[in-house]
Amino acid sequence: MKITVTPKKLDAIHADCEIVLIINQQLKHKWVKDQTDLSTLNFEAKSEESAFLPHQHRVYAGADSLDRDEIRLAVAAALKAIKNTNYKTIKIGSYVKTCPAIYTKAIVEGALLGDYSFDRYKSKKETKIQRELILSLEEYHDKELKLESAQNALDEATIIAQAANLAKDVVNAVPDDMTPEALANEAQKLADTLDNVTCFIGDEHFLEEQKMGAFAAVARASAHKPRFIHLTYKPKDAKEKFVFVGKGLTYDSGGLSLKPSEHMVSMKSDKSGSAAALAILKGAAQLQVPFEVHTIIGSCENMIGGNAYKPDDVLVAKNGVTIEVRNTDAEGRLVLADCLCYACELEPDYLVDMATLTGACVVAVGEYTTGIMGHNSALKDEMLSAADKSGELSATLPFNRYLKKLIKSDIADISNIAASRYGGAITAGLFLDNFVTDTVKDKWLHLDIAGPAFIEKEWGYNQSGASGAGVRMCLYWLKEHTYKINNYHDKDEEK
Ligand code: BES
Ligand code: ZN
Ligand code: ZN
Repeated sequence: MKITVTPKKLDAIHADCEIVLIINQQLKHKWVKDQTDLSTLNFEAKSEESAFLPHQHRVYAGADSLDRDEIRLAVAAALKAIKNTNYKTIKIGSYVKTCPAIYTKAIVEGALLGDYSFDRYKSKKETKIQRELILSLEEYHDKELKLESAQNALDEATIIAQAANLAKDVVNAVPDDMTPEALANEAQKLADTLDNVTCFIGDEHFLEEQKMGAFAAVARASAHKPRFIHLTYKPKDAKEKFVFVGKGLTYDSGGLSLKPSEHMVSMKSDKSGSAAALAILKGAAQLQVPFEVHTIIGSCENMIGGNAYKPDDVLVAKNGVTIEVRNTDAEGRLVLADCLCYACELEPDYLVDMATLTGACVVAVGEYTTGIMGHNSALKDEMLSAADKSGELSATLPFNRYLKKLIKSDIADISNIAASRYGGAITAGLFLDNFVTDTVKDKWLHLDIAGPAFIEKEWGYNQSGASGAGVRMCLYWLKEHTYKINNYHDKDEEK
């Protein structure tokens, strides 16, 4: 979908169809031209509700408030209602007199995220007509200035939504296609097409050289060899260093602690952390953020076989910490352990790891929400707020000293599973803490995206399957940091 902004009045724009958003169920508002029809349809304009009037060539959608996510949901709902029509041009008005940047972004993100579809494995592809969405800035005062800011907002939101959609493509690809090697090729492709981006790829020999004994053990039984991927975006005069680490299990069968069949289905999504880290790097480079951004990915398959790692093995991670394996299905933390050690050597100002790490996190906060963990409350709050603005749901989960004791081991330094299944998301986070150096502890966040990364039933503007969890929140977070260092307080960005 192509999206354009124009200072033209809505009535002066020629388009095949018009989208009308109804805020707060104000059905008597001047924008609502078909009140009789809508009341015949008993249309109440509730959140996510839409009504398409083909004779009028208008589609209405409700939003409970002017909150960013209400707008995203409404735009996506409106476009979904006219999905099967042959309209080529669609116009939409602006519904607020201020803050064009915020609302332009919300409209654009709602449209592009909602418009995503994945038909790579369908033998008959849906014919998708190339549509144009035209956004009128009619309501805003001071048109010249607002046009520029709306155009910037359009560009920024397009980058962010397309990054999330890239992550969805990577996650939705099946394990036989998206092997560690194929994921590394995706990373290399990004580096080849983006300015200021370089890519390093290491194989199983690199893991050995680096003494990444935990990662190597998980990877061992698969016919597909592991890949360690390090992407760097380095603009001139970069201010700070952000490092993103992603769990890239292209398949998680559980290993010898084999998953029951019903839990194994959808484990192609165990590469979601790496897909997010890849997409964030792409977004950051396209947004030209003034920071050095690194993406570190540990990619492999957790399989069974004669040479598989076993419960009872003791592994030695890159930093020398010894790990007793008690369950080979708790493999993500082993891969991340070595990747976090490597990441700390980069001396980051901020370190964020993303992983579909625990079913326990899904139990704790539900399927739609990311669990944010770390030692630094201010940093966790920053991410929480960025997630909220981006439209991603998140909640912080607190570490504590008692849960930390649950991962002790008799035979090694730590065990890869906790002594109790309660608090499993947090004990997994505390396991990772052993691989973050003291100087980085306060700069580190762990995002458990096991719930939202992949859901088999569509929700909001997310299709069934991958959602690109982590991408939008981290890109919003990077943007917030950009405003901070530029000492720039765009009124438009303030809620
Ligand atoms: N990849 C899974 C976690 C997961 C579960 C992701 C559900 C997405 C949806 C992870 O590797 C795993 O199997 N974790 C175990 C840990 C346990 C053995 C301590 C789990 O959550 O059951
Ligand atoms: Zn597992
Ligand atoms: Zn896993």
